[in-house]
Amino acid sequence: MLKKKHIETYEDYLAFVEELRDHDRRYYEEFQPIISDYEYDILLKEVENCEKKHPHWIVSYSPTQKVREGTSKAFVQKKHTVPMLSLANTYSQEEVQDFITRVKKLLHKEAVLFSVELKMDGTALSIRYEKGHFSRALTRGDGWEGDDVTENVKTIRSLPMNIHGAPDILEIRGEVFMDKKTFRDLNQEREEEGLEAWANPRNAAAGSLKLLDAKEVAKRKLDIILYGIVEGGKEITSQYEVHEFLQKLGLPVVKKEYRALCSNLEELMEFSRKIQKIREDLPFEIDGIVIKVDDILSYEELGTTGKCPRYAVAYKFAPEQAYTKIHDITIQIGRTGVLTPVAELEPVHLAGSTISRATLHNLEEIKRKDIRKGDHVVIEKGGDVIPKVVCVDLSKRKSDSEPFEMPKFCPNCGTKVVHSSEEVAIRCPNTKCLARKLRHIQFFASKAAMDIENMGEKVSQQLVTKGLVTRKSDIYLLDEKSLQVLEGFKEKSIHNLLGSIESSKKCSLSRFIVALEIKHVGAETSELLADYFCSLKDLMKASKEDLLELSGIGEKVADSIVEYFQDKENVEDIELLLERGVIPYHEKKQKQMDHSFSNKTFVLTGSLENYSRESAASLIKERGGKTSESVSQKTDFVLVGKDPGSKYEKAKKLGVRILSENEFVEML
Ligand code: IVH
Repeated sequence: MLKKKHIETYEDYLAFVEELRDHDRRYYEEFQPIISDYEYDILLKEVENCEKKHPHWIVSYSPTQKVREGTSKAFVQKKHTVPMLSLANTYSQEEVQDFITRVKKLLHKEAVLFSVELKMDGTALSIRYEKGHFSRALTRGDGWEGDDVTENVKTIRSLPMNIHGAPDILEIRGEVFMDKKTFRDLNQEREEEGLEAWANPRNAAAGSLKLLDAKEVAKRKLDIILYGIVEGGKEITSQYEVHEFLQKLGLPVVKKEYRALCSNLEELMEFSRKIQKIREDLPFEIDGIVIKVDDILSYEELGTTGKCPRYAVAYKFAPEQAYTKIHDITIQIGRTGVLTPVAELEPVHLAGSTISRATLHNLEEIKRKDIRKGDHVVIEKGGDVIPKVVCVDLSKRKSDSEPFEMPKFCPNCGTKVVHSSEEVAIRCPNTKCLARKLRHIQFFASKAAMDIENMGEKVSQQLVTKGLVTRKSDIYLLDEKSLQVLEGFKEKSIHNLLGSIESSKKCSLSRFIVALEIKHVGAETSELLADYFCSLKDLMKASKEDLLELSGIGEKVADSIVEYFQDKENVEDIELLLERGVIPYHEKKQKQMDHSFSNKTFVLTGSLENYSRESAASLIKERGGKTSESVSQKTDFVLVGKDPGSKYEKAKKLGVRILSENEFVEML
């Protein structure tokens, strides 16, 4: 921790540089920053200003001297065709005006047009297409060389592997990100599995992109938006038109309403205000806007300042902060029994909503920031989805305040909690704990699951604490009489709730599977299972081997499904749900399906030149076919790519029809 806020001496300067390097390491290598971007940028500015005043102090390893982000030993490093520079950033309007003035001066022009777009909060990527085929993806690395993450990038569904009408070589740049919903869902899963939660979607995306197993990357559901051309498309001389050019090629770009052409500060600020207003509603995170000179031909003339080009600047949004008090620190018990400390706050208005709670994640986080009950704190909702406590105002702390301690016993059922050495999480091991049951019931009724409209979290809480509902099937026993005991429930609300319960009975099989909360089975896997088994009975009977037939289902998921349906209590609850009128139905998707592969099972082996496994599998599925992980007599085709594995040998032995990639393309 730094002792001072400002640099006064050479020693202070070195301490600031060290501090920044430590934050870089946490950010780029561990994907777990401990300060916000805003705090980082303030430190960096302090060092930059100091270096301007004392240029002879500058050390070569200062973060101002190089493009941040490292490379990983686990990946092959490749040279960028054009260096991937950083972007100068500012939080101040005056500095944006300085940028405009500087550009005009350098170009000797009275008027310059600027193309403004969203500053996507993800991780930068350079992507190459050769003769219309996706051929390579590199991370930024040190700006000159990046990690080759081609295989991982192939799992990004929105990125086409083949494009038509592109120049022979097309190298483009963009940002890989994780959308807010995926981030929230996966982070919740992580917390429940006892893993440390990601700090924000950007770290989640950057960390995911560097996973070693592309299959795991696919589960992270990364997305991408492209915004620049570095090679090919020479005829495009306007940055504003770059987006349109890329879009015409079928590449993912940001919507037109999130871009603009501006000619002065007022117009730029108007665009910025418009974007800040809708920021909360965007499905992905942004941390500002990027202002670029529209005329690409002038970029060379403008040149660079060390690591940043002069043609662009990022105008970043400062996170909104608020000052409030922690009344209490309570414990929330998750569906898997994880104890999460929560700060109960004096309600305060922040970034468009009233905040009365903030998650404190785990004991380590609380210790690091030394957060205590009764503290006055600064909370922030910046790029992060969940409000968090930034720091404590120690001047307001009472002398009798005590450090927070996690309870030794579950605050709900009194069972001794367990803290295994392998995880940060502390858990209540009692599977019958009422708090856990409540979370299950709340989830069952939620929009993502059975969507019981008038049964929100508070109603569920009453139903569980009053003993009316202890398992899912109890919901379908509720009647007018039993509901009269609920506080604030009169004839109309009782009628409404019973109506929603009744209409939830007819539900899709995939939603029903989601509602069961089988470990590792989320919405996507549920859909896969519903499409494959078509009936609940068949799914319940499925063996591990049957489940492994589905591509997209691995050992861990298969084990968890089998285990779930072996549990007598689970089966009994499902049977009661069905007895009480719940009818999970399955409709085969009617979406203009091409049935050319109807009921044909494909097995894929080796690497394909033009498709990732994921995209080949979805092409097969779109045409009514299935994919499987293992070759058997039931297999119709084995699609063989480069360096095929044992599946190829087995297919030859069994006499299964073998397809080359070309034959596959023809079939498509
Ligand atoms: S242009 C020379 N445009 O923000 C840099 N970058 O903090 C050219 N970013 O390095 C980058 N959205 O990773 C550009 N619309 C956008 C962007 C964008 C996000 C990222 C990019 C950049 C970083 C700087």
